[in-house]
Amino acid sequence: MDDLAGKHIVLGLTGGIACYKAAELCRGFVKEGATVQVVMTDAAAQFITQVTMQALSGRPVFGSQWDAREANNMPHINLSREADAIVIAPCSADFMARLVHGRADELLSLMCLARPIERVPLLLAPAMNREMWAHPATHRNMAQLAQDGATILGVGSGFQACGETGDGRMLEPAELLEDIVAFLQPKPLRGRRVVVTAGPTFEAMDPIRGITNHSSGKMGFAIARAAREAGAEVTLVAGPVHQPTPRGVRRIDVQSARQMLDATVGAVAQADVFVATAAVADWRPAMQSEHKIKKDGSGPPTVAFAENPDILATVAQSDRARSRELFCVGFAAETRDLLANAQAKRARKGIPLLAGNIGQLTFGQDDNQLLLVDEQGTQELPRAPKLQLARTLVAEIARRLAPVRP
Ligand code: CTP
Repeated sequence: MDDLAGKHIVLGLTGGIACYKAAELCRGFVKEGATVQVVMTDAAAQFITQVTMQALSGRPVFGSQWDAREANNMPHINLSREADAIVIAPCSADFMARLVHGRADELLSLMCLARPIERVPLLLAPAMNREMWAHPATHRNMAQLAQDGATILGVGSGFQACGETGDGRMLEPAELLEDIVAFLQPKPLRGRRVVVTAGPTFEAMDPIRGITNHSSGKMGFAIARAAREAGAEVTLVAGPVHQPTPRGVRRIDVQSARQMLDATVGAVAQADVFVATAAVADWRPAMQSEHKIKKDGSGPPTVAFAENPDILATVAQSDRARSRELFCVGFAAETRDLLANAQAKRARKGIPLLAGNIGQLTFGQDDNQLLLVDEQGTQELPRAPKLQLARTLVAEIARRLAPVRP
């Protein structure tokens, strides 16, 4: 996808072994459609060469405030003026201290100080040894930087190049990319809480077998990601799927429809929006055997079914949903007559908005097309990657919400 199309990012590298990850991050920015200008400190150049970063960004790298390639000899001014963001990755403990003090004796900190602070955000991806990360001086500096308007992207945990294990590693390039893409998205759901159900449910017959539905969970996970990008606090209630949790999203894993109902009812109590994308099994085996049902020569077992709760309809009938404090969105996976089925389902479930799709056109795929049905009528969202559709759907939901009370 072109998640950063039209964006210009200044990528600053400071001294740390995590510079090797900055190469991958630079590539990620370019793949997502951004133009990238790399600026490196002398210490960064001890870890990775300008040649590598020039090759990956497709632009000459800057490293000195005395660089005469700029006609006015002011790279510290020129380099930030067109930037949509300055990302320092890795950001060393020393560089944070320099930023705190507004130091201006080398190009990168000088450029950060000289950036138009209202319009060019500064994002920091710290990288350091765990003791340095835990030191009060680092925490003091981070608090000051946050107060001065910088965004600190957090750190990872685990094995460190020094041989120690703990917090302070730079986040992985894919994690940073997801966070930076999210940072640059519009924020129509800022201050809202969103709950999403996703994936299938699994209804056990015995400890070995059960019945389930077709669902990769991709659409629901994309909606959770898009809602987080839009500024919401997101809880994702997921059936058994193999999808990575979107960054910054709280995930609750469940198996059965009844577990999904319990987790959802708990989560929606504080929510503003509920989006039900889960392919919930309508029925479950009425009896669940404690042990594996064996072939005993008497032929296959007869399975009786009990009906599962309708999670969406249950939530939609709650007081908060009826008073429109909780905005409910349903999905309908149909195999034919999409419009008529979607309209009937919206009315039956008592929800303001329903997104219909044709099951065969979406199962397991990375793209989909949706038909939105609400009180006013219908709106087609043409075939597109699921994340793009999710972003459009989130914008449509945000547009329909009552303004936040002061
Ligand atoms: N849904 C739910 N709980 C259920 C069944 C469905 O929350 N037990 C939600 C789904 O997450 C989706 C919507 O209801 O948002 C419609 O699901 P779908 O399976 O298309 O509809 P059903 O209610 O099962 O109706 P039918 O089987 O008649 O198509």
